Amino acid sequence: MTNLVGKDILAADQFNMAELELILQTARQFDTISSAGGTLDLMRNMILATLFYEPSTRTRLSFESAILRLGGSVLSVAEAKTSSSAAKGETLYDTGKMIEGYAHVAVIRHPIVGSARELADGASIPVINGGDGAGQHPSQALLDLYTIQKEKGRLEELTVTLVGDLRYGRTVHSLAPLLQHFGTRFNFVAPSELAMPAEITAGLRAKGAEVTETSDLAAVIGQTDVLYVTRIQKERFADPAQYEALKGAYVVNNALLQQAKPDLTIMHPLPRVDEIAKEVDAYEGAAYFRQAANGVLVRMALLALVTGKI
Ligand code: NCD
Repeated sequence: MTNLVGKDILAADQFNMAELELILQTARQFDTISSAGGTLDLMRNMILATLFYEPSTRTRLSFESAILRLGGSVLSVAEAKTSSSAAKGETLYDTGKMIEGYAHVAVIRHPIVGSARELADGASIPVINGGDGAGQHPSQALLDLYTIQKEKGRLEELTVTLVGDLRYGRTVHSLAPLLQHFGTRFNFVAPSELAMPAEITAGLRAKGAEVTETSDLAAVIGQTDVLYVTRIQKERFADPAQYEALKGAYVVNNALLQQAKPDLTIMHPLPRVDEIAKEVDAYEGAAYFRQAANGVLVRMALLALVTGKI
């Protein structure tokens, strides 16, 4: 039987279809119980450690909310970069060895690609990657998948347009391989400097996915079922002038939406800067705040599954 007990959650491509279905189904179950006002006590006496070496609002708060809603507790280092032993030169491997004595599961966010794996190599408890630089952000991709299914009523037969910073945006690096399982048709919309990494696009095509790459959002909006907008990742640019030249490359506003399907769903991992105009918030298909709320349910599912509590 499929289960995730004891597993690290490091990258989206680690999941097979049965595991994806298990996570979505568990989140749905928690959704039903929470919506009915029920409570869950599955992780009583269990501790989640959160190690955030990079800023975060949603990922951190939703993981904390998730463990509290499951009856557990959270241990966290406030500003891990400056106030933890990392400032004294401790390796993540050693931090992993240590953290297993303090907690039952850990979430890490770090500016360097591969850092979650390094912590996981040291720790015998399950480690969840809450974002490693421009690498992966698998729990975000899972909540994105959950949101698409909830908003659209299905995951199959959809055209999904990913727009913005596809080069440095870790959320899209994780989401695209997950959607590939469901036969998604992709539009990747970015300035050429911020195109999706070639190995990801090639990997999707090798598995039979239909991928269109363009820099023209208006050209594809009319065929889009789900528009996934991302922020230009200022903190990843080596050259601030390049960021200045590319910021504001895309703005989703009412004028653009006139060309869209009436049932278009608009998503964004948040935080947004100016890539979705505020006027769009009133649009029925604007799902980004519902998407953020879904994060708690999906993270509850992940925590309960990797600790074997469900
Ligand atoms: C994203 C991230 O940190 O990668 N935020 C999030 O987790 N919701 C997206 C971003 O910062 O642009």
